[in-house]
Amino acid sequence: METFKKVAIIGTGTMGPGMGAVLERAGSKTLLYDISAEALEKAAVGVDMARGVLDRLAAPSVEGGSIEFSTSLEAAVSDADLVIEAIPEKIDLKHTVFSQIIAAAPESAVLASNTSGIPITKIAAPLPDSAERIIGMHWSNPPHLIPLIEIVPGDQTSPEITDRLVEFVKSFGYSPVIEGEVPGFVENRILYAILRECLELVERGIISHADMDTCVKWGIGYKLAVIGPLELIDMAGLDIYENVGSYLNRDLSTASEVSSFITERTKNGRLGLKSLGGIYDYTAEEVAAKGAERAGKLIAVRKALVGDS
Ligand SMILES: NC(=O)c1ccc[n+]([C@@H]2O[C@H](COP(=O)([O-])OP(=O)(O)OC[C@H]3O[C@@H](n4cnc5c(N)ncnc54)[C@H](O)[C@@H]3O)[C@@H](O)[C@H]2O)c1
Repeated sequence: METFKKVAIIGTGTMGPGMGAVLERAGSKTLLYDISAEALEKAAVGVDMARGVLDRLAAPSVEGGSIEFSTSLEAAVSDADLVIEAIPEKIDLKHTVFSQIIAAAPESAVLASNTSGIPITKIAAPLPDSAERIIGMHWSNPPHLIPLIEIVPGDQTSPEITDRLVEFVKSFGYSPVIEGEVPGFVENRILYAILRECLELVERGIISHADMDTCVKWGIGYKLAVIGPLELIDMAGLDIYENVGSYLNRDLSTASEVSSFITERTKNGRLGLKSLGGIYDYTAEEVAAKGAERAGKLIAVRKALVGDS
């Protein structure tokens, strides 16, 4: 079983702390680095919260794991056998930070990016001497709860590096999926296709936003957590899909602009939970309660699904 015993995570914002807690649990000595001292302080709280969730999940724990925080990128990566970059989604910044990582990390270290959609080939382009060990490792948010990682090799990534990362992900009980490079990667493309259709139907007044949420959670979401979309086609019958798809596909949204249902709200500062209002309105207490309630439900569903691939 492949293990990476020493892992460095570069960037400890939304994603870094949860990823760190998972890897600590997997037995890796994990170093978290951020350029911001404030982010590192917050990360300590985030790591503790993620550890609590992993306890509630009864996630297996491998001995030898730990988490330390570092204020020096060089110190964080100097002994790492896996480096995971989780800094903001800006290609120039990623180029700069990857150059710094390459200058300080062992030549044998695997260099992964948690990018949500920048092609790995583009991240590696100015770094040809290291391109074969640069690879996409896209965790899903929250990373300590969602046990899926998209593995995205670039044009130059060595197949051996891809295999090692896939085996490592399996070793801590997460499901790796290997993908070719496509904008947004696969998981987000599917999500955005669903969101585009939802927003169009709500904007046209076909259904209220609250009923849309109910329709998708119980009608599609619940089912898809157990039966994958292609399994679902087998279950429904390919002939049925062909018949329905032959008239329905041409009626589905092909909008290339973001729905005005969203842009009218963003213009007015309605950004969602973080501004206490987006599509719905919230009080600060409701935001906290929703976070806890959703984590509890996700934990229960994940426990029920353990063992599914
Ligand atoms: N947030 C999500 O839902 C999500 C999900 C999957 C993947 N991602 C991807 O993961 C990456 C990180 O996303 P995030 O949401 O955690 O971002 P974030 O903005 O919450 O955190 C990024 C952190 O990187 C730090 N940083 C900035 N410049 C740095 C530097 N030069 N060196 C070290 N640290 C630096 C910032 O201080 C910040 O703490 C992005 O590529 C994003 O697309 C995000």
